Amino acid sequence: MQALDILKESALRSIESATDTTALRDIEIAYLGRSGKVTSILRGVKDLSPDQRKHIGREANLLRSVLEDVIAEKRRVLNKQEHAERLGKERIDITQPGVKMPRGGLHPLTIIRRDIERIFSSLGFTIAVGQEVETEHYNFDALNIPADHPARDMWDTFWIKQKKDEGQRAEKERLLLRTHTSPVQVRYLEAHQPPFRIIVPGRAFRYEATDASHEIQLYQLEGLMVGEDVSLGHFKYIITTFLSELFQKEVTIRLRPSYFPFVEPGVEVDMSCVICGGKKGCSVCKRTGWVEILGAGMVHPYVFKAAGLNPKYWQGFAFGMGIDRVAMMKYHIPDIRFFHAGDERFLKQF
Ligand code: DAH
Repeated sequence: MQALDILKESALRSIESATDTTALRDIEIAYLGRSGKVTSILRGVKDLSPDQRKHIGREANLLRSVLEDVIAEKRRVLNKQEHAERLGKERIDITQPGVKMPRGGLHPLTIIRRDIERIFSSLGFTIAVGQEVETEHYNFDALNIPADHPARDMWDTFWIKQKKDEGQRAEKERLLLRTHTSPVQVRYLEAHQPPFRIIVPGRAFRYEATDASHEIQLYQLEGLMVGEDVSLGHFKYIITTFLSELFQKEVTIRLRPSYFPFVEPGVEVDMSCVICGGKKGCSVCKRTGWVEILGAGMVHPYVFKAAGLNPKYWQGFAFGMGIDRVAMMKYHIPDIRFFHAGDERFLKQF
């Protein structure tokens, strides 16, 4: 009897001090489980003397039902408490702003190229494309730059290794990575009847050391307008309109005589510095107020002939411009190598 009392005491104390339903379950098993303390007493009752059996049996049964009740009550309390805790923790605040999904953006060169294409389209130009792997013929010879021409030095070239027989088939089939977009002039002239006006945005390659203003790959914009009476006057108007539109400023240009084998006359075009407004006040124009922006000229008769057209009937202007350079001016980018460095800190700014 005394042992039963002690058991009751300790059971009630444990139940009282249980802090969660898992602990309570352990206590229940320890007292009322199949080999629990109260259960073993009840199981031992049959071995007692008849009057002891009656007495102890009743008390033990009573203890069991008391414990069952107390545990059930405690379980109700703990369940409620745990439920409330969970609700507190798992609450969803529907007013909280969502997590922003990181979003990709356009590369600055893509943005500029699209701007350029939009402006020239509005001026009636069509967009043409060529190929990055070119033949020596289109990249050089047809542009009046034969193999022994000193002007070839203007373009350091990545030649493509070819199997012996491929190289021998014909000299003009030697392959290279195009050094400029000008070969597309010839390809387009061969395939289309003038008059037409086109621009050719595309990538070109130069086998040279890189620095802040030189890269082995660059993007160029070629332009070609051909008709019966197209002149440098048209060129001046088109290019001034284009530059003013692109830089969203009133831009003036000046032409300086220059030399490119595929044009005659050849010119270099300077534009008024868009950084200091042509006031001779910044490092981009080296305090001259002018920035060299493109090469151009009247298409050389040789190029028309190479493409199978009669230069007596057709004339036109051509120009070539570095898209990277334009982007650098527009966004004030100090180093051309940023474009292909893949640095997110740079790319995220556009
Ligand atoms: N292809 C020349 C270069 O890469 C640029 C150029 C100059 C293109 C004059 C032209 C042009 O169409 O008329 O340096």
